[in-house]
Amino acid sequence: MGYVERINCSESGESYPVEGAVTGACPAGDYPEVHYDLTRIREEFDRDSLAHGVASLWRYAPLLPVDDPENAVTLGEGWTPLLPVPNLGATFGCANLMAKDEGRNPSGTFKDRGASVAITRHREMGVEVVIHNSSGNAGGAMALYAARAGIRCINLLPGDVLPASLLQSTLAGADTRILDGPWQESGRLVADAVEDHGWFNIGTLKEPYRLEGKKTMGYEIAEQLGWSLPDAIVYPTGGGLGAIAIYKAFRELQELGWVDAGPLPKLIVTQYEGCAPIVRAFQKNADHAELWTDLQVLPGGLKSTKPPGDKAVLKLIRETGGTAIAVSTPDALEAAALMTRTEGIFPCPESATTIAGLKTALDEDVVSRDARIVLVVTGSGLKSIPAFPGVDISSIGPRARI
Ligand SMILES: Cc1ncc(COP(=O)(O)O)c(C=O)c1O
Repeated sequence: MGYVERINCSESGESYPVEGAVTGACPAGDYPEVHYDLTRIREEFDRDSLAHGVASLWRYAPLLPVDDPENAVTLGEGWTPLLPVPNLGATFGCANLMAKDEGRNPSGTFKDRGASVAITRHREMGVEVVIHNSSGNAGGAMALYAARAGIRCINLLPGDVLPASLLQSTLAGADTRILDGPWQESGRLVADAVEDHGWFNIGTLKEPYRLEGKKTMGYEIAEQLGWSLPDAIVYPTGGGLGAIAIYKAFRELQELGWVDAGPLPKLIVTQYEGCAPIVRAFQKNADHAELWTDLQVLPGGLKSTKPPGDKAVLKLIRETGGTAIAVSTPDALEAAALMTRTEGIFPCPESATTIAGLKTALDEDVVSRDARIVLVVTGSGLKSIPAFPGVDISSIGPRARI
């Protein structure tokens, strides 16, 4: 398959077949990882020729796990702008603050990257039905790409799923089920359904290809910085997939010699105070997160009470000298307003946790104010309208007099 050499469970090293769809084969707490023949890629490709490629994540096709990029199930995902945000930066005294605006993706969030690559690869392998539990954004994305691919998608969503994600799921014809019970049970329900029906579990870190799609955020950040790495990445973390993926990309680029070897950017993880298993584990110096039992977050993402990528994320934070910061709901909402007001970028509240979290990281001297810092804006506020405080139209006035 393309330049793929092998697929291993990242910790146990157990190998995973390269041809043939397998899911959930790694031991609990571990996940499958794709390895490429980077020597051959280095010999056959030159990083600058990528600049003439398509304006989507498929510009990195040699580094993606597919038989043929012509098979891509694509809606034009990826190649999102890395925008300087000097006005927002000035409010913290940061001279080099940037935002990777993932809200530009087709479904409105970065989840499209994983959906495009995973659905492409699983369709190549003949998978006909995919199932997963999703707080909403991944469900919306998976439904759209499955519709385009002609694959059946079963989405298990929470009762407070936001209307944009719910509509994407239902209008795309996904078999949409709303969980009647605590969200912590959603993973077990999917596992039972997989056992009963033989459906393919495409959930976070169960199979290797969503990670491969999401790693393209890392390639893009490097390419957009003239093939260099920033000093810090601030990432709103749920299951951990996006953070793990971005750093996989950075390491591959270093091995390819396409960016300088050297310290990786500091990873600053942000979570909501009402679901902060990784922050708690980081503070306790633990190597894995305990189940978060008292889930209290806004409707939308960052609901992972037992993040499947916990160990790898905690390791990355420590290896890079980063940190993990919990953000209150009012601070996240205020930060979303601040970004919109100062920069004209309307982020979802999940991604606005990065803004509030960065402020704390700066105050704690985790990162310096002159560092090149990238906030990953994982989704658009347009996906999260009911999560924001409403605007009382009568306070504005029904008839305008200007
Ligand atoms: C908008 C948004 N941002 C970030 C995340 C975190 O996802 P992950 O940590 O799996 O990359 C999610 C999902 O929970 C999300 O919906």
